[in-house]
Amino acid sequence: MTRLTAICLGFGMALVPGLALSAEGNPAAGKGKSAMCAGCHGIPGYKTAFPVTYSVPKIGGQHAAYIVKALQGYKNGDRTHPSMRAIAAGLTDQDMADVAAYYASTAVQSASK
Ligand code: HEC
Repeated sequence: MTRLTAICLGFGMALVPGLALSAEGNPAAGKGKSAMCAGCHGIPGYKTAFPVTYSVPKIGGQHAAYIVKALQGYKNGDRTHPSMRAIAAGLTDQDMADVAAYYASTAVQSASK
Protein backbone atom coordinates (compact mmCIF):
# COMPACT_ATOMS: atom_id res chain seq x y z
CA MET A 1 0.00 0.00 0.00
CA THR A 2 1.42 3.39 -0.90
CA ARG A 3 1.82 6.12 1.66
CA LEU A 4 -0.76 8.21 -0.16
CA THR A 5 -3.26 5.38 -0.02
CA ALA A 6 -2.61 5.01 3.68
CA ILE A 7 -3.23 8.70 4.23
CA CYS A 8 -6.46 8.60 2.20
CA LEU A 9 -7.66 5.61 4.20
CA GLY A 10 -6.87 7.54 7.34
CA PHE A 11 -9.01 10.43 6.22
CA GLY A 12 -11.82 8.07 5.26
CA MET A 13 -11.89 6.58 8.70
CA ALA A 14 -11.75 9.97 10.35
CA LEU A 15 -14.92 10.91 8.47
CA VAL A 16 -16.66 7.79 9.77
CA PRO A 17 -15.36 7.49 13.32
CA GLY A 18 -17.65 4.59 14.22
CA LEU A 19 -16.07 2.48 11.50
CA ALA A 20 -12.48 2.94 12.60
CA LEU A 21 -11.84 -0.74 13.21
CA SER A 22 -8.07 -0.69 13.24
CA ALA A 23 -6.13 2.32 14.40
CA GLU A 24 -4.78 3.76 11.18
CA GLY A 25 -2.94 6.98 11.89
CA ASN A 26 -4.20 10.24 10.47
CA PRO A 27 -1.45 12.88 10.50
CA ALA A 28 -3.92 15.76 10.07
CA ALA A 29 -5.94 14.70 13.10
CA GLY A 30 -2.71 13.98 14.93
CA LYS A 31 -1.46 17.48 14.39
CA GLY A 32 -4.36 18.89 16.38
CA LYS A 33 -3.98 16.25 19.08
CA SER A 34 -0.25 16.92 19.36
CA ALA A 35 -1.00 20.30 20.94
CA MET A 36 -0.97 18.56 24.32
CA CYS A 37 2.46 17.07 23.59
CA ALA A 38 4.12 20.22 22.31
CA GLY A 39 4.57 21.77 25.74
CA CYS A 40 7.07 19.08 26.61
CA HIS A 41 8.23 17.65 23.31
CA GLY A 42 8.41 20.99 21.55
CA ILE A 43 7.56 21.82 18.00
CA PRO A 44 9.22 19.20 15.79
CA GLY A 45 12.52 20.53 14.60
CA TYR A 46 12.75 23.08 17.35
CA LYS A 47 14.13 22.91 20.84
CA THR A 48 12.22 21.41 23.68
CA ALA A 49 10.66 24.16 25.74
CA PHE A 50 9.78 22.40 28.95
CA PRO A 51 10.88 21.01 31.29
CA VAL A 52 14.41 22.30 31.06
CA THR A 53 15.69 20.35 34.02
CA TYR A 54 15.53 16.92 32.40
CA SER A 55 15.70 15.75 28.88
CA VAL A 56 12.59 14.98 26.90
CA PRO A 57 13.16 12.66 23.95
CA LYS A 58 12.68 14.10 20.52
CA ILE A 59 9.75 12.36 18.88
CA GLY A 60 9.48 14.32 15.62
CA GLY A 61 10.59 12.05 12.78
CA GLN A 62 10.40 8.95 14.96
CA HIS A 63 8.78 5.90 13.36
CA ALA A 64 5.03 5.84 13.93
CA ALA A 65 5.12 2.23 15.11
CA TYR A 66 7.72 3.10 17.72
CA ILE A 67 5.71 6.05 19.02
CA VAL A 68 2.53 3.99 19.28
CA LYS A 69 4.40 1.21 21.06
CA ALA A 70 5.96 3.68 23.49
CA LEU A 71 2.59 5.28 24.25
CA GLN A 72 0.97 1.88 24.80
CA GLY A 73 3.86 1.03 27.10
CA TYR A 74 3.17 4.10 29.22
CA LYS A 75 -0.56 3.37 29.24
CA ASN A 76 -0.25 -0.29 30.24
CA GLY A 77 2.54 0.27 32.75
CA ASP A 78 5.49 -1.27 30.86
CA ARG A 79 7.00 2.19 30.92
CA THR A 80 6.86 4.03 34.19
CA HIS A 81 7.53 7.73 33.62
CA PRO A 82 4.77 9.50 35.65
CA SER A 83 4.03 12.43 33.33
CA MET A 84 3.96 10.29 30.20
CA ARG A 85 1.81 7.70 31.97
CA ALA A 86 -0.70 10.43 32.83
CA ILE A 87 -0.73 11.62 29.23
CA ALA A 88 -0.97 8.16 27.67
CA ALA A 89 -3.76 7.10 30.01
CA GLY A 90 -6.02 9.65 28.33
CA LEU A 91 -5.27 8.55 24.78
CA THR A 92 -7.30 6.10 22.75
CA ASP A 93 -5.64 3.76 20.25
CA GLN A 94 -6.83 6.11 17.52
CA ASP A 95 -5.30 9.13 19.29
CA MET A 96 -1.99 7.28 19.56
CA ALA A 97 -2.04 6.30 15.89
CA ASP A 98 -2.89 9.85 14.86
CA VAL A 99 -0.21 11.63 16.86
CA ALA A 100 2.29 8.95 15.84
CA ALA A 101 1.43 9.49 12.17
CA TYR A 102 1.77 13.22 12.66
CA TYR A 103 5.14 13.06 14.40
CA ALA A 104 6.43 10.48 11.92
CA SER A 105 5.46 12.82 9.10
CA THR A 106 7.59 15.64 10.53
CA ALA A 107 10.88 13.92 9.68
CA VAL A 108 11.79 16.30 6.89
CA GLN A 109 11.26 19.37 9.03
CA SER A 110 13.35 18.00 11.87
CA ALA A 111 16.22 17.15 9.55
CA SER A 112 16.34 20.65 8.14
CA LYS A 113 16.00 22.30 11.58
C1 HEC B 1 4.55 16.74 30.95
C2 HEC B 1 5.50 16.67 29.84
C3 HEC B 1 5.16 15.74 28.67
C4 HEC B 1 4.03 15.78 27.89
C5 HEC B 1 2.84 16.73 27.99
C6 HEC B 1 4.19 14.73 26.92
N1 HEC B 1 5.38 14.09 27.10
FE1 HEC B 1 6.06 12.48 26.04
N2 HEC B 1 7.66 12.32 27.30
C7 HEC B 1 7.96 13.20 28.32
C8 HEC B 1 9.16 12.73 29.00
C9 HEC B 1 9.83 13.41 30.19
C10 HEC B 1 9.54 11.53 28.36
C11 HEC B 1 10.70 10.60 28.73
C12 HEC B 1 10.09 9.62 29.70
C13 HEC B 1 10.94 8.43 30.00
O1 HEC B 1 12.14 8.60 30.27
O2 HEC B 1 10.40 7.30 29.98
C14 HEC B 1 8.59 11.31 27.28
C15 HEC B 1 8.64 10.23 26.40
C16 HEC B 1 7.82 10.09 25.30
C17 HEC B 1 7.95 9.04 24.30
C18 HEC B 1 8.99 7.96 24.28
C19 HEC B 1 10.15 8.46 23.47
C20 HEC B 1 11.29 7.48 23.40
O3 HEC B 1 12.25 7.77 22.65
O4 HEC B 1 11.23 6.42 24.03
C21 HEC B 1 6.97 9.23 23.39
C22 HEC B 1 6.70 8.42 22.14
C23 HEC B 1 6.21 10.39 23.83
N3 HEC B 1 6.75 10.88 24.99
C24 HEC B 1 5.11 10.89 23.16
C25 HEC B 1 4.29 11.90 23.66
C26 HEC B 1 3.06 12.30 23.02
C27 HEC B 1 2.52 11.71 21.71
C28 HEC B 1 2.52 13.28 23.81
C29 HEC B 1 1.18 13.99 23.62
C30 HEC B 1 0.01 13.13 23.49
C31 HEC B 1 3.43 13.51 24.92
N4 HEC B 1 4.48 12.64 24.79
C32 HEC B 1 3.26 14.45 25.93
C33 HEC B 1 7.25 14.33 28.67
C34 HEC B 1 6.00 14.68 28.17
